[in-house]
Amino acid sequence: MEITEDIQYVGVNDHQIDLFESQYKVPDGMAYNSYVILDEKTAVMDTVDVHFTKEWLSNIASVLKDRKPDYLIVQHMEPDHSASIAAFMEKYPETAIVGNAKTFDMLCNFYGHCYTNTVTVKEKDTLNLGKHILHFVFAPMVHWPEVMMTYDETDKVLFSADAFGKFGANDVEEPWLDEARRYYIGIVGKYGMQVMNLFKKIGGIEIKTICSLHGPVLSGDLTPYLNAYTKWASYTPEEDGVVIAYTSVYGHTREAANLLAEELTARDVKTEVYDLARCDIHQAVAAAYKYSKVVFASTTYNADIFPPMRFYMENLTERNFQNRTVAFIQNGSWAPMAEKVMRGILEKSKNLTYCEHNVTVKSAVTEANKEEIKALAEELSK
Ligand code: FEO
Repeated sequence: MEITEDIQYVGVNDHQIDLFESQYKVPDGMAYNSYVILDEKTAVMDTVDVHFTKEWLSNIASVLKDRKPDYLIVQHMEPDHSASIAAFMEKYPETAIVGNAKTFDMLCNFYGHCYTNTVTVKEKDTLNLGKHILHFVFAPMVHWPEVMMTYDETDKVLFSADAFGKFGANDVEEPWLDEARRYYIGIVGKYGMQVMNLFKKIGGIEIKTICSLHGPVLSGDLTPYLNAYTKWASYTPEEDGVVIAYTSVYGHTREAANLLAEELTARDVKTEVYDLARCDIHQAVAAAYKYSKVVFASTTYNADIFPPMRFYMENLTERNFQNRTVAFIQNGSWAPMAEKVMRGILEKSKNLTYCEHNVTVKSAVTEANKEEIKALAEELSK
């Protein structure tokens, strides 16, 4: 696949993977992208997951034809992109590996081999391939500390490492936004400040194409992608709406959650409901970053909350959950504790607005509870 006249796609699709990074469900697989820049000098941008080395090397060979790669640019050392470095260097030992000081530390640590044919770059350094001048932009913690991006000033292409990627293989057609959100919040949701810092660095550059290490190549009007990233990185809701995240042992908390959803829908409030014991929990996490309001509904369990709710809330707080309106539905047959515990978990989250009309169910939903749920729906619809 041609990205520009001189830049070719040589990545691979992975439909064997069950969990990305051993935790995120990827029913549509994953893409590990890699690119070749053909100029007076040739450069390969990153490698791929270890299970696809052979296919990737074959893609490179068919693009290079009888040429040899001069540079292997390593933008990110996570093994989904670095695990084929050794095989590449075995095939093309004359290639110089381009990275930064942290890259080469990690390379030694991960693979036990410290290469000597290396070019160590610093922030803002350039690499001249002939017609193409590459600029290195460091992007620490987007997603690891050694991450750097590469801007090709000739074709105005930003090789963006993990940023702007998504879950899903590239041979599956689906809109970018939902799976890009679940991917972003999952892997870099905690590092909004670092993403905003990166945006300050690249703010003045003309970008025509974004070549991420995952997902499709982005071109044309890039505004929707940049806007989405700005919202996620600044923890700003994308739209008004309510996420109801619940756990329920015997169905009573579920009943309360569903009643609230009905009341909200009747008031034209966009609502998504997640059963945390059964749903893709990272989908529910992403939803909490999409919408402006979150209702946490949990059973009291061992004087605490039901375990999937704790896992959910800790996934939110470790990703700097903030700037939202929140409410609670608690259930407890003899000593309801869930609301107190959930409030405690959110204690350090910034800029949360707490609803007044929270609901306590004592075992089963009563007529009085139904009125409380209506009051909560009314408050959430304002
Ligand atoms: Fe796609 Fe952070 O590796």
